[in-house]
Order: sequence, then C-alpha cells, then structure tokens
Amino acid sequence: MKRIPLPCGETVPALGQGTWHMGDDPQRCGEEIATLRRGIELGLTLIDTAEMYGDGRAESLVGEAIRGLRDDIFLVTKVYPHNASRRAMPLACEASLRRLGVEAIDLYLLHWPGTVPLAETVEAFEALQRAGKIRHWGVSNFDREQMESLHAVPGGAAAQANQLLYNLGRRGLEWDLAPWLRQHRVPVMAYSPIEQGRLLRTRGLGSMAKRLGRTPAQVALAWLLAQDDVFAIPKTGRRERLEENAAALDLTLSPDQLRELDALFPPPSGPGPLEML
Ligand SMILES: NC(=O)c1ccc[n+]([C@@H]2O[C@H](COP(=O)([O-])OP(=O)(O)OC[C@H]3O[C@@H](n4cnc5c(N)ncnc54)[C@H](OP(=O)(O)O)[C@@H]3O)[C@@H](O)[C@H]2O)c1
Repeated sequence: MKRIPLPCGETVPALGQGTWHMGDDPQRCGEEIATLRRGIELGLTLIDTAEMYGDGRAESLVGEAIRGLRDDIFLVTKVYPHNASRRAMPLACEASLRRLGVEAIDLYLLHWPGTVPLAETVEAFEALQRAGKIRHWGVSNFDREQMESLHAVPGGAAAQANQLLYNLGRRGLEWDLAPWLRQHRVPVMAYSPIEQGRLLRTRGLGSMAKRLGRTPAQVALAWLLAQDDVFAIPKTGRRERLEENAAALDLTLSPDQLRELDALFPPPSGPGPLEML
C-alpha cells in the first residue's frame, strides 16, 4: 500500500474508505460493514466519517465495522463548525468516541469553516490532544485564504490535512490552493474522488478505461494516487466495487496517459472559488 506522510511524519495509506450515507438504510448495513472490513483486509485502513453523517449513524456503523481491529485503523472523523468551540467540541468529540467505540480519534477535522474564531477552535483541538482524545487535527473545505488565516493563529500550522472536493472533473484547487498546501507540506484528502459516481459516466473516461482494460473508477482513482501528497477516500457499500476500487492501487498511469487525462479534464486556467459538496 502506498503511504503518504502527514506533516508530523506519521504515514497513512493513500487509499482509504469514505462512509457518507452508510447506515442510512438498515437493510444495507450488513453489507456496508462487511465491505469496510474487506477494505481493511486489503489495506484500506484509513476510514473517514463525520458526526454529521446520518446524525451519527455512520460513526456507529464504523464503530461496529472496526471492532477488534482498532489498532489497524487510521480513524478520521469531523466536527461540525457549530461544535468547534471551546465548550462544544469536547462534548461533540466524546459523543463521536462513544459511537465509534474507541479511546481516541486519529485525525479530527473541522468539517468546514464556520463562525467560531479559528484561534478558539485550534485551542479546543489542542486541549483534546492533551487529554488523549485525539491524536491529530486538521481541516476540511478550507480555501487558500482560510489556510493562511489558520496558519496565522497560534498553533494553527499543526493542521495535518485539508480534506477537499478533488477529482478529475474538479481541479480548481490546483490553481493556488494545492501549491500552497504542497509548500506547507499539508496533504490533500480528496473527497468525492469519483464525483459520487457521476464522473464514471463521462464518455472520454469510459473509452480510455476500456482501452486500458480497466474501469473508469480505477482510472479516476489512479489519477489521484499518481500524486505524492493526495489521499483518496472513495465510498462504497458494495464488496465488488470495493475490490474494483482497491485495484486502482496497481494501475500506474504513464506520462502519456496523464497527458490524455489533462486533455479530457483540463486543469484550471485561472483562480476560482473553492468547490465543495
Ligand atoms: N469533507 C467533506 O465535506 C466531505 C464531503 C463529501 C464527502 N466526504 C467524504 O468523502 C467520501 C467519498 O465521497 P462521496 O461519498 O461523496 O463520493 P464518492 O466516493 O466519489 O462516490 C460514492 C458513490 O459512488 C458509488 N461508487 C463507489 N465506487 C463505485 C464504483 N467502482 N463504480 C460505480 N459506483 C461506485 C457509491 O455507491 P455504492 O456505495 O452503492 O457502491 C456511492 O454512491 C465520503 O463518503 C465522505 O467520507 C467528505
């Protein structure tokens, strides 16, 4: 498994598993848990969830899936912006820990920028670290200016990742955010890496994948994994798709193939607002 270093030096598998909408349909929970466990077996031990997903249902499902496997997992969850204060964050974190059935979260992310001052949020993260409730913290959906503001507050440069909407069809962050993050050694955690399935229906991607004897999902994920500082966290609740996605790890795209993808999905030609879902 390819691994990516966090700024602190710890390395984490480049391909992980998302969990948005897991636990929504009680009839699918068994398969979703089995899928997460199969992914763990295949080395996809980075698991991403959030207190928001199904009002805690996704965290509870993850808790069930990782029971007995805790030590193998790098567990990421996210706090709502309205819970990112000195008072609310410890309670939100405790509730996440209880649902996940773990003693500590490996990476606790601010889900998106909110109205609580960043300095207070950073202090709240630091207090949870001191209490042993979280090992690392980071952010999500932060654009370049917001990253600069974060780095300007005391302790703000300790953020270990920025989780962002990033896939072949959403390359806007390559204009100025990705270079800034690279310069500060903050990795990108690419969410919706197959645009919730929509990217797979793009004609050019389909025909290229066919030529390579691969699936569109594998090409889209391999494109993200070709970068040194990008994690990808596709979500699937189906074992056969999980295995399909995991096989992206052994697809190395050649420079010609990367150029072909650039022609199909051009990089940005100017600045634009950060996209999010
Ligand atoms: N920080 C944020 O603001 C934020 C926002 C969005 C997402 N996220 C995180 O990122 C994770 C991934 O993003 P996402 O769930 O939005 O989208 P995604 O991973 O791009 O796509 C997931 C969708 O694609 C389907 N799918 C997965 N593999 C497939 C394949 N090989 N072939 C065809 N369909 C496939 C899944 O259906 P099945 O399950 O039925 O296979 C699901 O409907 C989330 O689950 C969440 O953990 C974070």
